[in-house]
Amino acid sequence: MTRQLAVICLAAGRGKRTKVSTAKVLLPLCGRTLASAALLSVAELKPARTVVVLHNQMERVQASLEKALAGAKGKPGKFASIDYVDQGTPNGTGHAVQVGMEQLLDFVGDVIVIYGDCPLMTAETLQELVDLRGESACSALTAYPVNPIGLGRILRDDEGRFVGIREQKDCSDEEAAIDETNCGFYSFDSEKLRPALARLTPNNAQGEYYITDVIADFVAQGEVLPTMEAHDIAEVQGVNSLAELSLVQSMMQERILIEHMNNGVLITDPAATWIDYDVEIGSDTKILPCTVIGSGCKIGSGCEVGPFTHLRGGTVLEDGAMLGNFVEAKNAHLAAGAKAKHLTYLGDAEVGEKANIGCGTITANYDGVNKHKTKIGARAFIGSGTVLCAPVEVEDEAMTAAGAVVRPGSHIKTRELWLGVPARYLRQRELPAAVSPPKVSPPTGEKKS
Ligand code: UD1
Ligand code: MG
Repeated sequence: MTRQLAVICLAAGRGKRTKVSTAKVLLPLCGRTLASAALLSVAELKPARTVVVLHNQMERVQASLEKALAGAKGKPGKFASIDYVDQGTPNGTGHAVQVGMEQLLDFVGDVIVIYGDCPLMTAETLQELVDLRGESACSALTAYPVNPIGLGRILRDDEGRFVGIREQKDCSDEEAAIDETNCGFYSFDSEKLRPALARLTPNNAQGEYYITDVIADFVAQGEVLPTMEAHDIAEVQGVNSLAELSLVQSMMQERILIEHMNNGVLITDPAATWIDYDVEIGSDTKILPCTVIGSGCKIGSGCEVGPFTHLRGGTVLEDGAMLGNFVEAKNAHLAAGAKAKHLTYLGDAEVGEKANIGCGTITANYDGVNKHKTKIGARAFIGSGTVLCAPVEVEDEAMTAAGAVVRPGSHIKTRELWLGVPARYLRQRELPAAVSPPKVSPPTGEKKS
């Protein structure tokens, strides 16, 4: 019979070592926060109960987690039940788990403890850790990082049995030389954890209650505790400083980019490409260097993005759409085959199929108070240097001449050509020969003839 699973995530600390005013768990990671990334890594295990222990900047952290975990963009929340609890003055990771367990008084089963500053864990590894515990009180994850300084060291007896964890500040010289470290991921038997937590004392260099001290306590009760080495050092990298944040970001970027490349997305220079979590990209799409794609963007197949392109939240490119050099799009929807290839801002814009947005076009969406929409129809042609002061509607196959400044509230009807500053109706547009439907082509190195 599978046992019930509960998760306690520790996120109450201030994170003094980051030297920034924001609570550490709110630091950004590829479109998430450290805490939301840490929690989403356990979501797939479908815990029956989840408790998040907070204190510093609690309201902000809780609001941001509620938004991220509910799936702000319409995705259903994955957690059956989440309780947010105030640790009061944080007095160590052991104290935080004590407070978390007070929310789980009636819970019997596996309790996974994770830290809100370790965001790269995977559900597979955590499941292995849970399975590894068997009937013992606890299983723990360990690693051999290149630089173990600052981390808890794994203590073993002469037979190699796991007997304790010593924090760096409490280590003797001999213990500090141990290269096996504690990663901060544990699976506990709820029934054995409770009495061990009650026995914790703050007899250490920091005068705090450490969760790591329950290990020696279990061993004193005659427990044999299994450990497992992390498969990938990236999974267990924690963030105590901004330098470690940048390390975790680059590890996460590598993971995200490899996933897209494995799905048939051609990324010509991964080192110069930034793609957040929660971005969808279809196969046969080409992402050129110096491109930044924010969380929530959706890109179809056979598109081309970049070089030097910034896609912000809510942007959708349907199949075959292209955004090129120095183009920024925010909350823009480009239908199949639409193009804006140079020096353009598309904000709160809807662009129809095969529309062509000329170089230097700006949708001026902000009037200083509110944001407004720009609608551009299918096969419309927006001349270079056009400023569309939203709200503006340009119907199918309509056209603006180069340099047109289209005033707010303007409505350019089908096939009309507007020109000037402010732009006015000039005449009907003469359409070029019938435009063929958008073609989805796989990326190749061939030059266009
Ligand atoms: C901790 C471990 C250490 C391990 C390392 C791995 C302890 C005592 N030490 O050290 O063995 O090698 O993680 O990354 O557990 N927190 C609270 N309340 C508190 C204190 C901390 O919620 O009272 C939270 C923090 O917000 C943070 C997490 O617990 O998210 C870990 O705390 P942190 O101070 O970063 O511990 P480390 O020094 O990294
Ligand atoms: Mg830490």
